[in-house]
Parts: sequence; structure tokens; C-alpha cells
Amino acid sequence: MAERVFSDQLGDWKRSIYCGDARATAVDQELTLVGWVHSRRDHGGVIFVDLRDRSGICQIVFNPEGDAESHDKAKQLRSEDVIAVRGIVAKRSAETINPDLPTGEVELKSRSLRLLNASQVPPFIIDDDTDANENTRLKYRYLDLRRPQSMKPLLLRYRMTKLIRDYLDGLGFIDVETPVLTKSTPEGARDYLVPSRIYHGKFYALPQSPQLFKQILMVGGLDRYFQIVKCFRDEDLRADRQPEFTQLDMELSFVQPEDVMAVVEGMIALLFKELKGIELQRPFARLTYEEAMNRFGSDKPDMRFGLELCDFSAALGNCQAKVFTGAIQKGGVVKGLRIPNGATMSRKDLDDMTPFVATYGAKGVAWTKITAEGWQSPIAKFLSAAEQKEVEKISQAQVGDVVLFSADSAKIVHDSLGNLRLHLGEKLGLIPEKDYALVWVVDFPLMEFDPEEKRYVALHHPFTSPLDEDLHLLDSDPAKARSKAYDLAMNGTEVGGGSIRIHQVELQRKILGLMGIDAQEAQDKFGFLLEALSFGAPPHGGIAFGIDRLAMLLSGAKSLRDVIAFPKSQRAVCMLTDAPSEVSPRQLRELGIRVSGPDK
Ligand code: AMO
Ligand code: AMP
Repeated sequence: MAERVFSDQLGDWKRSIYCGDARATAVDQELTLVGWVHSRRDHGGVIFVDLRDRSGICQIVFNPEGDAESHDKAKQLRSEDVIAVRGIVAKRSAETINPDLPTGEVELKSRSLRLLNASQVPPFIIDDDTDANENTRLKYRYLDLRRPQSMKPLLLRYRMTKLIRDYLDGLGFIDVETPVLTKSTPEGARDYLVPSRIYHGKFYALPQSPQLFKQILMVGGLDRYFQIVKCFRDEDLRADRQPEFTQLDMELSFVQPEDVMAVVEGMIALLFKELKGIELQRPFARLTYEEAMNRFGSDKPDMRFGLELCDFSAALGNCQAKVFTGAIQKGGVVKGLRIPNGATMSRKDLDDMTPFVATYGAKGVAWTKITAEGWQSPIAKFLSAAEQKEVEKISQAQVGDVVLFSADSAKIVHDSLGNLRLHLGEKLGLIPEKDYALVWVVDFPLMEFDPEEKRYVALHHPFTSPLDEDLHLLDSDPAKARSKAYDLAMNGTEVGGGSIRIHQVELQRKILGLMGIDAQEAQDKFGFLLEALSFGAPPHGGIAFGIDRLAMLLSGAKSLRDVIAFPKSQRAVCMLTDAPSEVSPRQLRELGIRVSGPDK
């Protein structure tokens, strides 16, 4: 086909309104519309073009009798060509009104057409129902964004951050920028490093969060800080993780956890009201970490449905089933789930749970069906009638239900049953998809023992303050000490997490020491923080939210990638630019770097 040449200029034409804003009130007015050709239909002489911009679609009519020149030009239009049209708004005849379009009552009768740019045939259909796979859409993200469905989450995200900024501004928070080329901060992930050209062998780290800078701003007397800020973490990607993501980061001086939570609840309630028209109940639900683990097997429980864990450890401590008693003797637990009406599940459904929990380190799931004739189960013979009755009582099992059992260390049992609960909740349709359930999880353990590294590691980060009443445990049993940390979970996703910090340098040194960081290492890594704390640091605390996660939940998107303009693929690649990519030998020389070659 001959090359189509579109060489008209926009010239002095100015857009009158967005395409999606054309209404019957504008009938008989002359308008200039600009945009992309969404579709073209030739109806024996008359040509109809749906013209699209970010606001929507308006129908343009090219009539050979009305405007022969434009009509002639319009014959060659194809999808995604860019045009400007000047014409008169007309009411559509009754039988051609399109009730599905906001502009469906009107059309623009062309008087003049400018062909501004031709488009190649796009690699996929630009419509809500597109057949393209995600990587193709990301490679041609500029085409993908022309689909209203792709652009909408970005608009919601913008409205969200605008509301947040205005809300925090109203409460006296100050937006301060912190460095991107900085020193490693320990949030528990791998750092992205940037080599220094001036100091060969030295590296900046991209921030995993502005944690230490915001604490130092408090020492500097800023009192209330916030920032909507990029953070970088080189970790294995999942649907709710990106290597670069955005935090709403906040810090306040002279506060307790309640004060931080109150600021946050006001903000989240505002977002729900403005963006979803939903009035959230306040205060939000609260669970201690211990309760969250015991009832839901998770520190970010999805509270939209029940299916809570039951504890059979006491009831089955002396039974004949070795899998149960063996776990208990090793200091573990036996817990379970009752599945209402689960007896209709097939043997295969039940057996399929074993590979499912295996990914969480569990060796299996035992089960019983509760029938009118009693237990139907491979383990029935190992439990006495009294033990069976006790299990039924604890789990409130009825005839027709299934009870599942998991026996292992508390960590493995919670992990496997917690995830099984989510899996079954979804599979059995127990999760009300349209609901929102927010819950604070508080009183996290300060640290846990890492058997591999043979040292205590912080559950949040090493700057989190212990609860006042647990300070004495630091000397006797540090793993039992709880912290002034709080996470906000929404529908089973952690959307935010924070804590009151340690503001006294002696306590900070002690905690670092407990985590196996000796005085020299503490000085090398965090000397600047320790020094700042020693110059009159106020009591302070804060929180950070995953802006991408919040936008994902509020827009109903299934992946973080849907709420990020240029996300990385699941393999941490920017499909549009092809980053990461190789650099020139000269650049490497300047940086004093020799590359041993790509991994094969
Ligand atoms: P934390 O590490 O919990 O806390 O991070 C805060 C929030 O950031 C979001 N988030 C992510 N979102 C997308 N992709 C990722 N890879 C990712 N990692 C984290 C989560 C999380 O709740 N400095 C502390 C905060 C503080 O103590 O004030 C911090 O960064 O929604
Ligand atoms: P086995 O004795 O290994 O054949 O297992 C008997 C039943 O107990 C099977 O249904 C297993 O899935 C289940 N089972 C095995 N290990 C565990 C465990 N740690 N906790 C709960 N059930 C288990």
C-alpha cells in the first residue's frame, strides 16, 4: 500500500473541548476537536469516525455533500491516526442515539479536517477488551495508555496523592526531599548500588526508604515531615512488589502510636470517602500480632471472611497420632481449620492440599469429614471418641463439615494454615470481593532469632522502640520483647507499616548490639544517626505507606503494574526501554569497573 503522507499542521487551531465532553447543549456550535481515530466506518458515501482523546469518544461525520474536501481526506483514515476536525455539533436522529456513550446524543459534522500524523497499524486492538499479553502492552505502553482502562488507575492515583498532600498540609506536615544517592538503609532487602566515578571502589546505595533521613529531620526540629518518594529494593518480585515503588513516608515528633494512627485513619477515611464514596468505620479494628497469628496465621490478615484457625494442641497432646504428638513434643503446635459444608469436597480436593502447604514447609495436612455416622478420616483410628468430641467442640464442627489439621512448629503451621485459609476462602467463594476490611496489627515482636545467621534480627527495622513494659526483657529474653510497631493491613495486603523509634542513643546501641552489630560496625553504618541521637533527639515515630499498593486496592487493580505508568516486568525489566542494559567500555573504565561477563 502506498505510504500515506499526513503533513497538515495544527496551525492556529485550538481545541474547543475534550471529545468526551460534547453534549446536546452545544448543538449548532462550531467546535474544534483533536485526537486519535478510534474507528472509521464507511456507510456508502458518508464516513463516520469515532474520535478519541483521554476523556472519551465523539462521533465525527464526513459527508461528501457537506464538505467534499474533508470527506476525500477522511477516506484514508485508519485507527490511531491523529487528526484535528472543525465542525458543527448536531443532534443525532432518534434511531442513531447511542445510550452507552456520554456523547451518544450528538455528532460533529465536519467542515474542515487536518491530518496531523499517520499511525502504523498498532500491534494490538486499543480497546478495553484487548487481546495483547502484558509484556506487549508494556513494550507499547504509550498505545496501552490510550485504553481508558489503562489510564483510569493513573488518574485515580493522581487524585489520591493530591488528597493526601492537601490533608497532610492541613495538619502542618512539611514535604521535604531526601537524597537518592545515599548510604544503605537496612529495610531487609538487597540494595541497588551506584558506583562512584570519583572514588573508585565506592558505591552509593539507592534508598530502600528515607528511614534514617526522616529521623534526622526530627532531630533537626522539623516536627512533622512527609514525602511521596521513590524507594528501591532489589528483591524477588511478586504481584504486590516492584523493584522501584513509591512510599508515602511520614514522621512526627513527641507522639505515641495512637497519634500516628489517628492521623492515618483520618487520611484513609478521606481517601475512601472521596475516591469510593465509602464511609469507613473509625477507629479501625486492631489486633495484636499474637492474636493475628493465632486467629488468622498471618500478620496481615484478610478480615473480610471468617475461616479462623483453631488450636487443638491441648486436646491432642496425648493422642495416638504420632504426627501430632511428635510436633507437640518438639515444642510445636497442632492447629486446624473448619470448612463449613466441606464434606462435599472430593478426596482429590483434600489430597491436593498437601502439595499446597508443602511450599510453606509443612509435611502434610490431615483431615476428617464429620458425618452422621461419625468421623470419616485416615486419622480417625488414632483419636479416641473423647478427643474427637473435643476437636468438634473447639472447631464448632457440624455434620457435613471438614476439619483440617496441621502439626509442626508454630511458624510453619501459621504460614501453611494462613495461606490455606486464603486459598480456600477464594476457592469456596467466601471472600466478599467488594468489601474493604482494614485492621491495625500492633505489638509486633521486636526481634526474632534467625537460626541461619545465629543472631537476632529486627522484625521491622533496628530503629523500632520496644514497649516500655518489655524493656526488662532485653536482658533476659529479647525474643519475647514486643515493640511499638504497627502495620495497617487492607484485605490481606500490608499497605503501611511504622513504629515509634528509639530516640535515646544508649538504647539504640544496645539494640544494635543484640542484633549482632558490634560497636565498630554500628559506627561505620549508622554513626551519623547515633551521633544525631546524642544531640537531643525528640521522641518520634512515623509510618510509610505503599502508594502503589493503596492505588491498586482503591482502583480494584489486580497488579501493582496497573497503577504504575512504566512498571518493571516480573523479571525486573523495563519492557519499553529495555533497561537494564549494557554500558560502553568507556563508561566502565571511568567507573573503575571490570565486568566478569553476564551470567550464563
Ligand atoms: P516497610 O518496609 O514496611 O517500612 O515499607 C512500607 C510500605 O511500603 C510498601 N512496600 C512496597 N510496595 C511495593 N513494592 C515493594 N517492593 C514494597 N516494599 C514495601 C508496603 C509497605 O507497607 N521505613 C519503614 C517505614 C517506617 O517505619 O516508618 C519502611 O520502609 O506497602
Ligand atoms: P502419613 O502418616 O505421612 O501417611 O500421613 C497421614 C496423614 O497425615 C496424611 O493425610 C498427611 O497429609 C497428614 N500429615 C502428615 N504430616 C502432617 C503434619 N505435620 N501435620 C498435619 N498432617 C500431616
